[in-house]
Amino acid sequence: MIETRWDPLTRKLPSLVDPKFGMSVYVQSLLNMITSDSEASCTVPDHLQLPNKTTPDNCVPHTDCCDEDSLRRLKVDAIDLFYQHRVDPQVPIEDVAEAVKDLIREGKVKHFGLSEPGVQTIRRAHEVQPVTAVQSEYSLWWRRRPEEELLPMLEELGIGLVPFSPLGKGFLTGNIDSKTTFDTSDFRNIVPRFTPEARKANLALVDLLRKVAERKKKTTPAQIALAWLLAQKPWIVPIPGTRKLERLEENIGAVAVELTSEDLREIDSAASKITIQGARYPEYLEKRTGL
Ligand SMILES: NC(=O)c1ccc[n+]([C@@H]2O[C@H](COP(=O)([O-])OP(=O)(O)OC[C@H]3O[C@@H](n4cnc5c(N)ncnc54)[C@H](OP(=O)(O)O)[C@@H]3O)[C@@H](O)[C@H]2O)c1
Repeated sequence: MIETRWDPLTRKLPSLVDPKFGMSVYVQSLLNMITSDSEASCTVPDHLQLPNKTTPDNCVPHTDCCDEDSLRRLKVDAIDLFYQHRVDPQVPIEDVAEAVKDLIREGKVKHFGLSEPGVQTIRRAHEVQPVTAVQSEYSLWWRRRPEEELLPMLEELGIGLVPFSPLGKGFLTGNIDSKTTFDTSDFRNIVPRFTPEARKANLALVDLLRKVAERKKKTTPAQIALAWLLAQKPWIVPIPGTRKLERLEENIGAVAVELTSEDLREIDSAASKITIQGARYPEYLEKRTGL
């Protein structure tokens, strides 16, 4: 159960978490709090980065990352899941894993996570300190690359996948079309997949989600997109983002949506006939992933 009394003014977080869905929402929020409210972490989440930032945002974690004051401010004894948010090619991943291992030994961190790492990086890190979760983009409109290499390797090593942007940055919810305009600060303005022409073509995928949702009754395209992810593997835990409580509730409702094997076959077959237009990132940002 997620306790939905999140208060945007005090930024109070849910204190009870659904192991299937809420855990990473909680952890994500914690890490966002660390980076926005204090100097306690050396990682910067994407939504706080400037779109033209080109330097890696990681350093080797050190004990200051999780000092007593930081943990006290967070009102926790230890951080449940500590992610390296972007792999820094200048820093051997073994050094990062070793540093996180120290934090775990000191009891300040419970689990180690990596964000958008390459498969070899995961293997090397995992040898030093077992990786619990990998955050990477995975959704109905970004499948081929994760399914080819990443998912089989995570299954082999017993690592959970936390798909970010599981709603295609909002597109898969059906709330966006080719005429939608975004605030000037919105990241989607620089994403090739969000040009009006690409959106027009990609709406075919939303039509499919809408069709399945209508048949299921009282179900939305966003819920189908999330239920599809949840149906792929029991160790996949998507983290949809929203600033609205009613959407948080709608998205959590995806846990109760059951897709039959026939539904899944239909979605897979129809989706495979749709060629998604536009890259998911501008080229300079894509280069910072999979390292
Ligand atoms: N590790 C990484 O490199 C990385 C990269 C990107 C994102 N992330 C994390 O992943 C999480 C989610 O990703 P994301 O925000 O990029 O994409 P997302 O979850 O796919 O989509 C979020 C967008 O969808 C809208 N939305 C959410 N639920 C909706 C609903 N039920 N109906 C209609 N619209 C809905 C939101 O708008 P409103 O806010 O207006 O509801 C927002 O614009 C965040 O926690 C983010 O920090 C991590």
